[in-house]
Amino acid sequence: MKFFIDTANLEEIREANDLGVLDGVTTNPSLMAKVGVSGKENVLNHYRQICDIVDGDISAEVISTDYEGIIKEGEELAALHKNIVVKVPMIKEGIKAIKYFSDKGIRTNCTLIFSPGQALLAAKAGATYVSPFLGRLDDNSTDGTDLIGTIRLIYDNYGYDTQILAASIRHTMHIIHCAELGADVITSPLKSILGLLNHPLTDIGLAKFLEDAKKFA
Ligand code: G3P
Repeated sequence: MKFFIDTANLEEIREANDLGVLDGVTTNPSLMAKVGVSGKENVLNHYRQICDIVDGDISAEVISTDYEGIIKEGEELAALHKNIVVKVPMIKEGIKAIKYFSDKGIRTNCTLIFSPGQALLAAKAGATYVSPFLGRLDDNSTDGTDLIGTIRLIYDNYGYDTQILAASIRHTMHIIHCAELGADVITSPLKSILGLLNHPLTDIGLAKFLEDAKKFA
């Protein structure tokens, strides 16, 4: 399973990359706004900086919602770097644009996926990735991990090679459940990735080993 970090924070991206297990980065307009990046040139420059840090797929989201606008913006983003994946919302115009990008060899991430039908349409259009939002489903009394399992089943039934990129990850157990269910990728805040390191028995065990090591050092 690939690990992406879900942030536009360059320090966090560097820290995750330094861990040696990072495969890519996802961003969205809210994450860009959170780090105070605004204005078209600044946003494009921020993507360039992320591409310089991480040698992996970097999702850059369009903010247009009309077909022509999505195409123009997506082509501009894709031209920034070979690792850019154009992130397109799950709307009618978005599906048409994903088909266009797919035919042109431009890779896409269809975002804001909340149902199996949306994931099926995105795969048929040729999306490279689909992003089901687990945490936001959980927030609405619906088990987000169920969606991952259903999309996995549908894609395997027909051999779609669209990758399931589980997004809106809130905690380590989301990551574990995604791995059990066969998600191709998780994109997570740094906190949940680092959370995978933790177990109190590891800390207790290491303290004991180090204490005992003093006896023969
Ligand atoms: O990048 C999309 C997704 O991961 C957003 O997560 O926490 O805003 O629901 P969240």
